[in-house]
Amino acid sequence: MTQSQVRLYYKNATADAIGSEHGIKREQLNVLGQRLLPLITRLDSPKQEKPAYRHLPYDAQTSDKVKKLVAEVKDQCENLVVLGIGGSALGSTALQTALNPYMYNLDDLQRAGPRLFVLDNIDPAQLVSFLDWVDNRLDKTIFNVISKGGDTAETLSQFMIVRRMLLEKCGFDGYTERVVVTTDAKKGLLRRIAATDNLRSLEVPDGVGGRFSVLSAVGLFSAAMCGIDIDQLLAGAADMDARVSCEDFLKNPAAINAAINYYFYNQGKKISVMMPYSYHLKDLADWYRQLWAESLGKAKDLKGNEVHIGPTPIKALGATDQHSQIQLYREGPNDKLFTFLQVDDFDADLTIGPAPDCAAELGYLAGKKLSVLLNNEKKATEYALLDSKRPCLTVLFDKVDAYTVGQFIYLCEVTTSFAGELFGIDPYNQPAVQLGKDATCALMGKKGNYTPELTYEHSGEQICDRTALDESYLV
Ligand code: PA5
Repeated sequence: MTQSQVRLYYKNATADAIGSEHGIKREQLNVLGQRLLPLITRLDSPKQEKPAYRHLPYDAQTSDKVKKLVAEVKDQCENLVVLGIGGSALGSTALQTALNPYMYNLDDLQRAGPRLFVLDNIDPAQLVSFLDWVDNRLDKTIFNVISKGGDTAETLSQFMIVRRMLLEKCGFDGYTERVVVTTDAKKGLLRRIAATDNLRSLEVPDGVGGRFSVLSAVGLFSAAMCGIDIDQLLAGAADMDARVSCEDFLKNPAAINAAINYYFYNQGKKISVMMPYSYHLKDLADWYRQLWAESLGKAKDLKGNEVHIGPTPIKALGATDQHSQIQLYREGPNDKLFTFLQVDDFDADLTIGPAPDCAAELGYLAGKKLSVLLNNEKKATEYALLDSKRPCLTVLFDKVDAYTVGQFIYLCEVTTSFAGELFGIDPYNQPAVQLGKDATCALMGKKGNYTPELTYEHSGEQICDRTALDESYLV
């Protein structure tokens, strides 16, 4: 059986489509191809040099462990609650939106597993409302607490609230039966708690950062619980692994994608808009936003030079955001590269009803497929942007299924690695996130000091000094 595919279409970013002032010329693309070739070879050949996430499509041990755990707990589970943030949450949400029906949580007939709630924030109003709802459903609820580092304040606070609730309502055994921890195999507070409280647990593999972890136990557990075919997801990623390892630049979608993104960034198009024309793909654009921003936004290059580099990723949804963003995209500054996500076969479709007699002007819509309207809206938007000489890429999905979603995730990840190499930065760290994390800890009274520039003895004062409300500026 031929598997559905994901392909990258790049003509509309080239000079052939929008002219040489704003489009990339074949020679310029080839020069970047030459630069990328050794990187493709290096990222591919000696196994130990591959970033750790590139082993995930082949990690049968983890998928077996996940499936075993799912078989153990799924029957007693009507509600699965993910507690996590950033890379420990975005992938679960993206997989669920992509691969399960829109009404999954609300319609028992449409779901093949527990309802899924990904609580990736600490807004008390949100959490109170959720806990009120789940309170008399605890018997059939599993909480999957995910944190690679194991000490993230947001996730651990949620966990401590839920832990207290479970201990009070279900006793110690009830608590341990209802929690699955996903964290580092050995290190961190969450691993310590899992060991002490004897909780079920899964591992975040060494060297795989949150934003590259969706194909590890981090994303696979909730996906498998909710009926998603994780074997197909990993098979799709493995398929893309072969394609992005291809040393023929013009056949390698990640290399071309990275080269084009890098080129346009250096031409002053520093904003990268991802615009899916598919509800299923909407949260993958959110996941991509974190991947691109945290990986490529860096102050220093690999040689230690100050560069302050990084394209700004923006998420827009077609056709919805045509009615909110396109005015800016066409007539505002020509500082953006657009990446549309387009689906060929939507799996489900509707025919538009007849025009009311009093509105015969609507006849042009009557009897047409909704999928045709949506894809024509994509074409029309692309046409309008090209008319304004804005470069456009399209990622074409034959259909949205576990296989193509696995391909797409892997394509984005390897594109990010290649782009990191071209920008000359380390795409796998996120040093700038730490100061804010530490400042929160300081304000909450934590003792200790992770970040050298922050001295806890004075930090509470320092932070308040800089952030306290100055009434004279309040209007
Ligand atoms: O991509 C990343 O590394 C981050 O977004 C983390 O996933 C996020 O900060 C949460 O960290 P942790 O999983 O350690 O709780």
